[in-house]
Amino acid sequence: MTNNPSYEMTADYISRVKALRKKGATYLVLTFGCQQNEADSEKIRGMCEAMGYSPAKEGDSCELVIVNTCAIRAHAEMKALSVIGNFKSQKLNNPDMIVGVVGCMAAESEVAAKIKRSFRFVDFTAEPASIHRIPELIYTAMTQRERSFILGSESCEIVEDIPVVRQSTYRAWVSVMYGCNNFCSYCIVPYVRGRERSRDSAAIISECRELIASGVKEITLLGQNVNSYKSDINFAQLITKIAELKGDFILRFMTSHPKDTSDELIEAIRLSGGKISPHFHLPLQSGSDTVLRRMNRTYSIERFMNIVDKLRESIPDIAISTDIIVGFPGESEQDFEKTLVALSKVRFDMVYAFIYSERAGTRSAGWEDDVPKNVKTERIERLLKLQGEISPERNERFIGEVQRVLVESFDESENTYVGRSPHNKQVRFTAEKAEIGKFIDVRIDSARITCLVGTAK
Ligand code: 5AD
Ligand code: SF4
Repeated sequence: MTNNPSYEMTADYISRVKALRKKGATYLVLTFGCQQNEADSEKIRGMCEAMGYSPAKEGDSCELVIVNTCAIRAHAEMKALSVIGNFKSQKLNNPDMIVGVVGCMAAESEVAAKIKRSFRFVDFTAEPASIHRIPELIYTAMTQRERSFILGSESCEIVEDIPVVRQSTYRAWVSVMYGCNNFCSYCIVPYVRGRERSRDSAAIISECRELIASGVKEITLLGQNVNSYKSDINFAQLITKIAELKGDFILRFMTSHPKDTSDELIEAIRLSGGKISPHFHLPLQSGSDTVLRRMNRTYSIERFMNIVDKLRESIPDIAISTDIIVGFPGESEQDFEKTLVALSKVRFDMVYAFIYSERAGTRSAGWEDDVPKNVKTERIERLLKLQGEISPERNERFIGEVQRVLVESFDESENTYVGRSPHNKQVRFTAEKAEIGKFIDVRIDSARITCLVGTAK
């Protein structure tokens, strides 16, 4: 059974738009932000093509533009607004062009109001939970010349069967759950993506089975908080079932929350014998218990260290990456130094560090953003300098080993192939011949901060 009553409505509007749109009409989808948005954009492209639009190249004029936005930090919003603004003149030249703004920014009431007021050339906005309504919004724009703004639906419905146009033939995103219930005090995600809801396991497993049969070699399961996946089975059981599917592929997943990283999940990775990537992305955010408490992260640094220890006891060579926010309201020099101590102790393979950005509507937006800008910049530089010493050390452990690499591209400037190792490390390697989208064994000869360097065997 799928919890999917409403694709029929989407399908109905898809055929109505298809009957109306101009012959030879083209579309453009621009994407900002995380992998979740990349995955959503593949569905948006799928619907565009089902409506009969064909892809336009960036910069070409087209009949339909959809900008899929990100709201996680102010910088991402500014970038998206400037890109949206660029379509004003195109719309003046071509009044029939339809412009839609979707994604996380479209779910913020202030942003939606601003677009309504000041971006009058935008025909519709739709929040992430409503992307299946895009064909309906295009139909309304075409037939009634009316602007639509879908906001606050917080739809808990999961619409299965939306057509997908994937960007890659050998790598695929598969969403397993949507939304977030954690309400970390700095984070806009629970407000713009709504409450947690999980897809049926049968739908996920059959999507993975089809992908593997079509030649996909890397599947990444996506969710804001994958390990709180809840259906007839839990996340550990889900990844075990997918890993047992027949075929030559690697399974990845992101993102995990420390609060529900279970022993069962760690065991599932270990028992998969390499089928599930030995890489765990585990956002720490801060090394200070005081800051973690105010961030509403619900774990202490001690508990985090215990999880890291368990991961390494069970899977000794596991790669662990993390997210850190510097300059959270009230973060003192001592708090920040605790984050540096945590990085030195844990020795993450990779750290994604962000400067705190106040997001309207979140709890921390009510607190003074009191760490001066220059202190924030200085802290992130100190943090990156420290991690710059740790990452190469974490990469050097692979020197002399043979890694099974999925080939992604060829870099003409360096005359090397570029691929990804099971531990999610970028590998740059020389080979007489390597095939994009296939696995190849590479001997690792040296390591840099951000990648491994090797030679095909
Ligand atoms: N400011 C800075 N970084 C943030 N993140 C989430 N919200 C904010 C914010 N308001 C970071 C967290 C999260 C990652 C995806 O983005 O580190 O794990
Ligand atoms: Fe945001 Fe926290 Fe949810 Fe991650 S777990 S999306 S940081 S609220």
